[in-house]
Amino acid sequence: MIVTSIAAVAPNRAIGKNNKLPWHLPADLRFFRKLTTGHHVIMGRKTWQALPNGPLPNRVNVIISRSAIEVPEGVLVFKNLELALEWVFRQGETEAFIIGGAQIYQATMNIVDKMVLTEVDIEVEGDAFFPEWRDIDWEEDTRDAHPADEKNPHAYQFVTYLRKKKRRDAGRAWRPFDY
Ligand SMILES: NC(=O)c1ccc[n+]([C@@H]2O[C@H](COP(=O)([O-])OP(=O)(O)OC[C@H]3O[C@@H](n4cnc5c(N)ncnc54)[C@H](OP(=O)(O)O)[C@@H]3O)[C@@H](O)[C@H]2O)c1
Repeated sequence: MIVTSIAAVAPNRAIGKNNKLPWHLPADLRFFRKLTTGHHVIMGRKTWQALPNGPLPNRVNVIISRSAIEVPEGVLVFKNLELALEWVFRQGETEAFIIGGAQIYQATMNIVDKMVLTEVDIEVEGDAFFPEWRDIDWEEDTRDAHPADEKNPHAYQFVTYLRKKKRRDAGRAWRPFDY
């Protein structure tokens, strides 16, 4: 199983403001849906509570929370990331997606194999940020640039980064946080 972080990020790394996305980019939402459909999506409790329409359809929604929260049937809650990733691996998942927010991206930064970032050309003041990473650890794999258009008010680029030093168990077995 590989683990992929997927996020939309402003140049100052902002990903959210007041528990909301600071932009509306339908093309990015479509891209996100296409990549994550059929997979497990792992998110923090705040991101879960900010989902406008409840669980993301056609995906297994996995929430990380230290509290006892009520969720609809089919949605899973784990007390920590290790337990969640272990469980997801045991379901036979090939690619698990970390879908935010800031706390969860930060907590998984050392174990993700891949980052799929939508780099949004916008100046925003955020209160939640994507973690910094060392260039030495990552290489850019693909970059796909799109100008603003009628429906998408900001230019954006879909960028994939791969970890240079592969997790030794990526794709084979899952040993959580044993990187
Ligand atoms: N641009 C993007 O792509 C994107 C994607 C997702 C989210 N966002 C934005 O990110 C912001 C939310 O991020 P956030 O950092 O405030 O919240 P978050 O990461 O979504 O959720 C934080 C919560 O997750 C739980 N948690 C975090 N780490 C944990 C751990 N190690 N073990 C157990 N539980 C843990 C805790 O829940 P409990 O308090 O219940 O214990 C914590 O309060 C929002 O503005 C949202 O819009 C942006």
